[in-house]
Amino acid sequence: MTITMVKAPAVSISGLTVAYKTDAGELPAVSQVDLELAAGTITGLVGESGSGKSTLALSLLGAVQKPGRVTAGSVVVDGIGDMAKLAGEELRTVRGAKIGYVFQAAQNSLNPLKTVGKQLLDLGKAHKVRDLKGLLRHAKDLLDRMGLNADRVLDAYQHELSGGMRQRVGIMFALVLNAHVLVLDEPTTALDMITQANILQIVRDVHKEQGLTTLVVTHDVGVVAEVAHKIAVMYGGRIVEHGPVTQVLAEPRHPYTRGLIHAIPRLTGDISAAKALPGTPPTLGTIPKQGCVFRERCALRMEVCETVEPPAQRMLDGRTVACHAVKEGAA
Ligand SMILES: Nc1ncnc2c1ncn2[C@@H]1O[C@H](COP(=O)(O)OP(=O)(O)OP(=O)(O)O)[C@@H](O)[C@H]1O
Ligand SMILES: [Mg+2]
Repeated sequence: MTITMVKAPAVSISGLTVAYKTDAGELPAVSQVDLELAAGTITGLVGESGSGKSTLALSLLGAVQKPGRVTAGSVVVDGIGDMAKLAGEELRTVRGAKIGYVFQAAQNSLNPLKTVGKQLLDLGKAHKVRDLKGLLRHAKDLLDRMGLNADRVLDAYQHELSGGMRQRVGIMFALVLNAHVLVLDEPTTALDMITQANILQIVRDVHKEQGLTTLVVTHDVGVVAEVAHKIAVMYGGRIVEHGPVTQVLAEPRHPYTRGLIHAIPRLTGDISAAKALPGTPPTLGTIPKQGCVFRERCALRMEVCETVEPPAQRMLDGRTVACHAVKEGAA
């Protein structure tokens, strides 16, 4: 087992707003988000499609692409600084070396024209790694640990690898430079249950052994239940609930979290009790400009929800909930 002396860094996201330019003007996909990823924890970020999960994940890497931009707030990584302010060479060095990431749809993000081994050497050279043999050894070790035949994988092109293998290769690339923050966007989507369980196990093991602070983005609350310590629930670009996984899943407080959890029979164990959340999530153009973004679908809707955006309130058990119908300290 690798014993690491470097302490996992904390990540503090404050007042973060990320907007995309559209025909209807610049519209926020992430609004005023405050989120702390405590050092050494795995946080699962959940929410329906379009809620802003990938946009938030990209801002951790300073990788929001045009037509998007960070319009307010900061993403401070311990020991690095504000990712929203880094640029150019400095940003390229930090990405990969300090913050490892696997993008959504990473299954298709390998270069189809180069073997995995060649791409690994390119990565090493881009990051000015002197000991390329050591880098190769480290990559092989990671691939072995993920149950892959390392020599075969390094000699392979993307099309020679299955979806599950590509996903593990992506995780290897994210970790091979010894990053201490790991961002995985939908690491198990489109994989069968056994491959999914295997990959989540690897994420848990490597997270612990290498001393990481990890963010796992997923639309699947089951994945969070399996892998994460903390859960952050996103809706319409806001974090509506954030807290310890066991508490939040056992007793969700925000009506959206409740809806998400009750929609999943395998969490409640009772298929007949599973209830789909009514309605559909908003798009950039239809996110309400004022008041609570969830009110259209909310059974607890009150007058105040029309005009006042609910602030994140800290509950007695340490979680935060942004809902007018949930009382402060009521946990
Ligand atoms: N390049 C872009 N240009 C314009 N709008 C964008 C762009 N990328 C994302 N959006 C919009 O921003 C919002 C948030 O998108 P994002 O991809 O962050 O959501 P997500 O929660 O990751 O969704 P999914 O679960 O489908 O991956 C969506 O309404 C999306 O349409
Ligand atoms: Mg996404």
